[in-house]
Amino acid sequence: TKVVLAYSGGLDTSTIIPWLKEHYDCEVYAFVADVGQGDQELEGIEQKALQSGAAGCVVADLKQAFVKDYIYPALKTGAVYEDGYLLGTSLARPIIAKAQVEYALSIGADALCHGCTGKGNDQVRFESVFASLAPQLTVIAPWRVWSLKSREDCLDYLADKGIVCSASAEKIYSRDANAWHISHEGGELEQPWNAPSESVWTWTKALEQTPDDAELITLTINQGEITHINDQALSPFECLSLLNDKAASHGIGRVDIVENRLVGMKSRGCYETPGGTVMLNAITALEQLVYDRDALHFRQQLALEFAQLAYDGKWFTDMTQAILQATEQLSKKLTGKVVVKLFKGHALIIQKQSPYSLYSEDFATFGDDDVYDQSHAEGFIRLFSLSSRISAMKQQGGLK
Ligand code: ARG
Ligand code: SIN
Repeated sequence: TKVVLAYSGGLDTSTIIPWLKEHYDCEVYAFVADVGQGDQELEGIEQKALQSGAAGCVVADLKQAFVKDYIYPALKTGAVYEDGYLLGTSLARPIIAKAQVEYALSIGADALCHGCTGKGNDQVRFESVFASLAPQLTVIAPWRVWSLKSREDCLDYLADKGIVCSASAEKIYSRDANAWHISHEGGELEQPWNAPSESVWTWTKALEQTPDDAELITLTINQGEITHINDQALSPFECLSLLNDKAASHGIGRVDIVENRLVGMKSRGCYETPGGTVMLNAITALEQLVYDRDALHFRQQLALEFAQLAYDGKWFTDMTQAILQATEQLSKKLTGKVVVKLFKGHALIIQKQSPYSLYSEDFATFGDDDVYDQSHAEGFIRLFSLSSRISAMKQQGGLK
């Protein structure tokens, strides 16, 4: 039998390789998804997989597709989970799992495996995608099955198998990085009364260390996607990377929340989404100009709905695809320019314009205008408030 493992190069998934071979009498193929987690995690990863006993290892470059086909569609819905989390891990799971399934099918594998714990959201996300795309394949989730309990257990197990591993027993935080964000959980964060120590944060500068001068950047947006930064044309991934660098240096995009996991428990997470925070602010600023009241309020409701679907890993479902089609349609008019001021943790949109703007100075002015007849408002308000008037008059006994 052949098993395809979603491999990260970390201690957990490195331990899974020999463990699978021992318990399932199988060949293990390591599947690595490059979703922009960075060279540090990816360097030498094939060799690491083979050293741990994998029969093969492939690295799929999903960086551009991740930003284009997952980040942007989600961004256009405005989704933010429980008012804080920009869904960085949630959005990466479907593209990783989908590519893993495609690889598994291409080599005629029998089973899919991941290194998620039995207590978290990620297991649900991986396996929901597996269920949508390849229900015939067996799923193996070692953390729910094996008796290893800690990093030390994993190291002992590897040593026992004679496998060399450079990982250390002490690792304080559980982190997950991709082009969009890095998450931090565990360690002192498990107690909500503990302030995160500065070593939690790995991408963004502490506010105490950010520049005292603001940086202004101009973003050109075409149909909801940023195409230029300061007039320089960039691919979606390059654009996100550059915004990450700029925003991180100003301490933008730190979030520290207690969130409700799908499996029932609450967990404390610290997230850094610097470029994403700028992008979300930029898109929402253009929406203010372009969407009428109904469209904007509808988009806001979709954001709530979509945030939960994405968090729960229900990407390849009719509901998710329906919302994405709706927001894709709306966002066709999200074209224009914004100026963002990066300063001390803030990404403030201070200028905005769009050829589709519905904003009219003539109508909105507090000064003199000749397009709006204020006397029209009287009849409008009488009908708008008619039911209140009828109710009050009934109470006063003045109506039959
Ligand atoms: N709590 C976040 C989520 O559920 C982050 C999960 C991080 N995952 C990880 N394997 N470290 O999306
Ligand atoms: C994990 O359990 O693998 C990480 C946390 C989560 O998925 O919520």
